[in-house]
Amino acid sequence: MKKVIAALASIAMAGSLVSCGSGSAPETESAPETKVSDTNKTIGIAMPTQDLVRWNNDGEYLKKQFESVGYNVILTYSDNDAAKQNNDILSLISEDVDLLLIAAVDGNEAAKNLDGAKEKDIPVVAYDRLIMNTDALTYYISFDNSAVGKLQGEFVKENLDLDNAPGHFNIEFVGGDSGDNNAKYFFSGAYDTLADYIKSGKLVIKSGKDSFEKVATKDWASDNAKKNMESTLDAYYTDEQLDAVICANDSTALGVSQALESKYSGSNDVIITGQDGDLENLRNIVDGKQSMTVYKNLDDEAAVAFEVCRQILDGGVPAASLVDSLPAEVTYDTGSYNNGKKYIQSYLLTPYVVTKDNLQLLVQTGLYKWDSDKKYLESAT
Ligand code: BGC
Repeated sequence: MKKVIAALASIAMAGSLVSCGSGSAPETESAPETKVSDTNKTIGIAMPTQDLVRWNNDGEYLKKQFESVGYNVILTYSDNDAAKQNNDILSLISEDVDLLLIAAVDGNEAAKNLDGAKEKDIPVVAYDRLIMNTDALTYYISFDNSAVGKLQGEFVKENLDLDNAPGHFNIEFVGGDSGDNNAKYFFSGAYDTLADYIKSGKLVIKSGKDSFEKVATKDWASDNAKKNMESTLDAYYTDEQLDAVICANDSTALGVSQALESKYSGSNDVIITGQDGDLENLRNIVDGKQSMTVYKNLDDEAAVAFEVCRQILDGGVPAASLVDSLPAEVTYDTGSYNNGKKYIQSYLLTPYVVTKDNLQLLVQTGLYKWDSDKKYLESAT
């Protein structure tokens, strides 16, 4: 996968894929050596939901990775229900798993049962989403979440040509779930990038929904994003042009594009951002219903999590030097993510912008297989 990222990164440098972050592509292309573990250790993996493509991919990929080197894996999904996830975590602790890897439904709720893990010396690693207010947590593996929002904001800035175009533009924000710590970073990354234009009146938020709390979308659900956008369109955009909607991720972007189809009568193409690169959204990008997505290579995220966990299980203490042997472009960060108790040692991967113009690269590099979706692939090239 390092190879793929290197390819993507070199194209990014040529200007086709835009990355956020200063790291350059890794020079070595070989994946770290895979050695079979002689232990009989068990990893408990708690994922939030199977409703979204990405968590299925993450869960399956992680399970395969751990099993391929001889670990047992108990993988749970909890229907986006924080109470159910806490029960899952409790039962993983009672099974005496050797390590917990958790993508929390709700970053605050997930902390509630982790004292039990601490008492049993079970290391806890947060996957993708930070777990708040617990000192049981040691590591955090994620993408640079602020960078995701920043890339979305910059995309809007460039595509509306805010520094040169005359007049003003109307924009709305659609955020993620308020229990997900990432969602705040996505929002502020995008909002802060555009704040000067909002202040100067170049960008106008007609709905007045200008804070994360006002734009959060329960469970990140497409249906909720659709309903919220429909109300905004009914209330503010029957006679006004809407120019851009910053959607925090692809599931909210899906809801927004559906709302625009059913309720928006303007003749302009509304810029819609996203995040993840879900297949349905990639189709929408080809069809012109979504403008971009921030692509996060989930296999790389899972591969990094795997390496960090493996080092912990082998009795090591992952630190800055691990970055050199990781199979992706990663920054080791100890000063950005404070969970209310302490700064968490974080391994942060780099996100990329994918648009209609560079989306076929995902297929060419083997990241997507569009066997039954050839028409999209062809129309994208
Ligand atoms: C993840 C996104 C995902 C969202 C909804 C966030 O925490 O970082 O990739 O789209 O959750 O599941």
